[in-house]
Amino acid sequence: MSDSTRLPYGGADDARAGGLPVAERFRRHADALVRHRRSPLCAELMYGAAADLDAGGVVARLFAGVPVPPGSVPQLRLLAALHHLVLAGRAPALSRFYPSAGGRLAPGGAWPVARQACEQHFGWIRSRLPLTVQTNEPGRACVLFAALVWLTDRYGLPIRLLEIGASAGLNLLADRYCYVVGGEAIGDTDSPVRFAEPWRPGPRVDVRACARRLTIHARAGCDLRPLNPRRPEHRLALMSYIWPDELERIERMRSALKLAAIAPPPVAAERAGAWLRRELAGGGERTLTVVWQSLFRQYVGADEWQAISDAVGHARQPAAAAPIVWLRMEPSDDHLAGVGLVARVSPDERDFRLAVCGDHGPPVIWREDS
Ligand SMILES: C[S@@+](CC[C@H](N)C(=O)[O-])C[C@H]1O[C@@H](n2cnc3c(N)ncnc32)[C@H](O)[C@@H]1O
Repeated sequence: MSDSTRLPYGGADDARAGGLPVAERFRRHADALVRHRRSPLCAELMYGAAADLDAGGVVARLFAGVPVPPGSVPQLRLLAALHHLVLAGRAPALSRFYPSAGGRLAPGGAWPVARQACEQHFGWIRSRLPLTVQTNEPGRACVLFAALVWLTDRYGLPIRLLEIGASAGLNLLADRYCYVVGGEAIGDTDSPVRFAEPWRPGPRVDVRACARRLTIHARAGCDLRPLNPRRPEHRLALMSYIWPDELERIERMRSALKLAAIAPPPVAAERAGAWLRRELAGGGERTLTVVWQSLFRQYVGADEWQAISDAVGHARQPAAAAPIVWLRMEPSDDHLAGVGLVARVSPDERDFRLAVCGDHGPPVIWREDS
């Protein structure tokens, strides 16, 4: 078994595959899913769409003139549009292949039916294809929560949590979810959003004591196009990004959306660089500011990334203030190394490699090898 199959699924590596023909990007993604035994339905649809692109069929016509820069994962945009049609009840024949809609047919025959749906809903699907992938995966909270526990051990301060590229902000609620760790529930033990043994192993600290002490005293996020868990059309869009045959994720998303709808986390409609510069202008002396991002880097251009790095690097802290910690959960530079969690602690700009994890969070393997 190669290293890439031992590690959790680390995404499609689309940022590096972006120079390839679109059909090849679809195929590489499907290959990664098969290698990691993830979503057979998505793999089947991606292979089918790739063959259709090669043949100049409906998928080629759908993507004609649609910008698909490296990292934009066009295959997920198409699959989300199809899933959206199914969840909205607009593609009943296709829904028979979608477990998220109660479908029970094996994925083998799904592509010809999906191709018909592409023809039938051509205009609507084409209108969705330019939209950025907005998967808001609450499973990534397992990674954030581990880091917050570790930071509580290190600094013992209340946390101000700021998320860039937050989508609907579901990961801003990391402390409102329950994590069963070593057989014991931590976090919000009454939460409907639950994770069973997501850390293998977790941070080398007294996690139970730190989880009890952990306080998020303020939380906020930004996104170019925030989604609101209270709005039915936004909930539908958020569901459409979850792979239809991964029912555990589907159920978790439903629970997280219900929880978030009670008191939606504040997510401003703003570019990350400008928002962060303003937010970081005011920090408390007795507060640890934590900037969080997950599966975000590949969606921003070089100028925006520079603006974000400058906002963190140039943030003026009062002399006595606690540092700013920038947590990045992103695909590693080495695609065989999967997704990693890195913490940069300002002002000394030191990077700590804290963990490797799956693209959607669990399993989190804490390494802390700085
Ligand atoms: C793949 S989603 C990830 C959402 C969330 N971080 C998660 O892990 O669940 C990427 C998000 O980044 C947002 N985004 C892309 N460029 C952005 C920018 N320059 N400023 C703020 N948000 C941005 C997109 O709108 C999208 O919601």
